[in-house]
Amino acid sequence: MEPFRHHIFVCTQEKAEGVPCCSAAGSFQVLNALHRELGSQGLADDVQVSSCGCLGICDSGPVMIVYPEGTWYTKLTPNDVPEIVSSHLKAGKKVIRLERIPDADMKSEVLDHRNKYLAMLKGKDAAGVLPDDLNDMIRGFMPSRAILTALELDVFTAVGKGGTAQQIAAKIQAAVRATEMLLNVLVSLKLLEKHDGIYTNAPTAARFLVEGSPDSARAAQLHTANLWRRWSKLTDAVRTGTAVESGHDNGWVNSFIAAMDHGARGRARAVAQAVELNGERRMLDLGGGSGAYSIAFVKAATALHSEIVDMPEVLPITQEHIRQAGLGDRISTRAGDMLSVPLEPAGYDLVLLSAICHMFSPEENRQLLDRAYAALAPHGRLVISDFILDADKTSPRFGTLFALNMLVGTRAGASYSEPEYEQWLKAAGFAASKRVRIPGPVNLMIATK
Ligand SMILES: C[S@@+](CC[C@H](N)C(=O)[O-])C[C@H]1O[C@@H](n2cnc3c(N)ncnc32)[C@H](O)[C@@H]1O
Ligand code: FES
Repeated sequence: MEPFRHHIFVCTQEKAEGVPCCSAAGSFQVLNALHRELGSQGLADDVQVSSCGCLGICDSGPVMIVYPEGTWYTKLTPNDVPEIVSSHLKAGKKVIRLERIPDADMKSEVLDHRNKYLAMLKGKDAAGVLPDDLNDMIRGFMPSRAILTALELDVFTAVGKGGTAQQIAAKIQAAVRATEMLLNVLVSLKLLEKHDGIYTNAPTAARFLVEGSPDSARAAQLHTANLWRRWSKLTDAVRTGTAVESGHDNGWVNSFIAAMDHGARGRARAVAQAVELNGERRMLDLGGGSGAYSIAFVKAATALHSEIVDMPEVLPITQEHIRQAGLGDRISTRAGDMLSVPLEPAGYDLVLLSAICHMFSPEENRQLLDRAYAALAPHGRLVISDFILDADKTSPRFGTLFALNMLVGTRAGASYSEPEYEQWLKAAGFAASKRVRIPGPVNLMIATK
């Protein structure tokens, strides 16, 4: 069983409303309890836990199988988990009261379930019914919209340590009837829990969606709510070929830069590593936003100083991030339009365009790469970090969707392909360029002067 002593599968299958399944029976709570208990009993590194699809005995859920023994535990609750961990996983003694021994009855239950499932699929197909996965994809906006409304109304903060629908409605100044509907959806999405009419935040919501929690992503996700408004105009944008409205309301800059900073949190160090900094001294970070990339780059290279160019309304936020990082002596800021402001004094070792090229038209990008080339020292490098599409522009999927995000949000932006970047870089005069893949949807183009 190396490298683990045990491998546990927990069925987390979700099924249509009213159909028995492990997820409706509480398998996610069991899974969470298992992770917690393995951690607290010191077995997290010895036991691999995987969630899995239907195991065929759905009336007995939540179901778990523990390998290498192949022990089936059924009808579990989170309260059963400490005993399974201490007795079975630690002391090697199965928990007999929870075990279901595979026998002929179980086999026929599994086969019967599979046959019914296949018959249901065939029946739907014969009746010409839209497949469930396609239907779910089409209606995918519903849960998303419910969460965005909850974020806009700051529901998770209002839920706090717990409250009734009435109490929460009063805090967010909304109608009780509607608040209750929204809270119930959030319970079904596993972001809240409800016991005896009291709603509380599930651990994920408490960590990421409550305002003021150390890892709160609420400010960043309010940007997604702004995007939602733009995406509602997608049909018109496709007809006309450009953004229908690109006006920004008051909160736009803060939530936009918060979203950029949140995205950069997990990525900036990986980008700095992938660039393999080697003695560079001067960096130009065009459209540097929150400063997250300049901060990661100068931290990764002791001799490096960075200069950020961005819009005047963004720079106070940038400066605050630089101040908090204690890097005011190594990162400076300059207000200006990167397409026209003089990029002087030339001789930069590195120019960074992170999440920039997708905002502009091909013509503007050619112009921008020409300017970057002129600003670089001989052998200096240009780093483009963006959603880079493959040659036929149909993958990766997030990059294709991001192109629409630019369609509804900019005059002429798009996601561009590797061959397009190569062509522009060559036309600008760069001697060599290569695509560098890093984990996640963003890739790099690194070109040398
Ligand atoms: C998508 S954000 C990327 C921010 C940052 N580079 C990052 O990757 O997190 C684009 C940034 O470019 C700035 N920006 C947009 N157009 C600009 C222009 N013409 N001149 C200078 N900055 C611009 C925006 O204010 C914003 O900070
Ligand atoms: S849904 Fe879990 S066994 Fe079928």
